[in-house]
Amino acid sequence: MPIETRKLREALGCFATGVTVITARSLDGELLGITANSFNSVSLEPPLILFSLDRRAYSLRKFEECGRFAVNVLDEAQQGISTAFATPLADKFAGVSYEFGRTGSPVLMDALAVFDCSTRFRYDGGDHVIFVGEVLDLVVREDGKPLLYFRGKYRGLSDPAGS
Ligand SMILES: Cc1cc2nc3c(=O)[nH]c(=O)nc-3n(C[C@H](O)[C@H](O)[C@H](O)COP(=O)(O)O)c2cc1C
Repeated sequence: MPIETRKLREALGCFATGVTVITARSLDGELLGITANSFNSVSLEPPLILFSLDRRAYSLRKFEECGRFAVNVLDEAQQGISTAFATPLADKFAGVSYEFGRTGSPVLMDALAVFDCSTRFRYDGGDHVIFVGEVLDLVVREDGKPLLYFRGKYRGLSDPAGS
């Protein structure tokens, strides 16, 4: 029996994640950003992380070409930023504070952590492309709570159990 996509989405939604915005500056200087919860750790030595990007994403080719990206781990106060960066064609950076990181990618202010990466490998991931980045620089904030995503909804660590 083939796996039903709706059921697969439902099952994947049971895996609670944080939420990130993956940013980059394209070769022609355009600022790119997408909300992604496919971020994951890969290796400590060398320091490698991954995310997967939908083949239909506007920014796919530009992420492939520029060879670098930053992973911004969102704070629970940044749900609006998550929504903005998940909306195609919006002016995603309007009103968002950022500075340029070591690799030249925009780094969002107030993120819980930032992994500034150069792209080391790209793999075929079906309808997504898997990007593996080598971490060249890090930002870690000592305080703050994460924005979470579970069963298709944003959550916070402070949500009462079971709600
Ligand atoms: C919580 C959440 C997680 C998401 N995770 C991913 C992801 O891991 N990979 C992806 O390609 N799109 C993901 N998306 C959808 C993209 O953010 C959205 O399609 C985005 O607009 C694509 O950017 P672009 O087409 O403007 O380049 C996610 C959306 C949300 C709300």
